[in-house]
Amino acid sequence: MSNIVRFGVSLERDLLEKFDSLIESRNYTNRSEAIRDLIREELVKKEWVEGDEVAGAITLVYDHHKRELLNKIIEIQHDFQNVIISTQHIHLDHRNCLELIAVRGNPAQVKRLADKLKSIKGVKHGTLSMTTTGKDL
Ligand code: NI
Repeated sequence: MSNIVRFGVSLERDLLEKFDSLIESRNYTNRSEAIRDLIREELVKKEWVEGDEVAGAITLVYDHHKRELLNKIIEIQHDFQNVIISTQHIHLDHRNCLELIAVRGNPAQVKRLADKLKSIKGVKHGTLSMTTTGKDL
């Protein structure tokens, strides 16, 4: 790649040793790739604070025997169809379901959707994985 720029970084020896051992434990083959990922990580965080469009995934684990819970989950998803790309439902066992909801859209709206779903009484665990559309990275 022709647009690669090299630059020097000065930092304390202790800090560099800690960094090297961290990136080794995470299977990075070199510092450059690790630093690129750290920078991208911060840029994605910024997108979630200031950006217009982000992407992500919401996961929910719940007991489908609680009928009201299921209705509530569906109702909320219908209210947020503009940010939901797709939904996948997996039957984990006789009682428990895993719902994966892929999202793309305004960050505040995506967070609101995740908060609403996670706070439904009976949802055992919910997460929001915050990533990027990749357009500006
Ligand atoms: Ni199920």
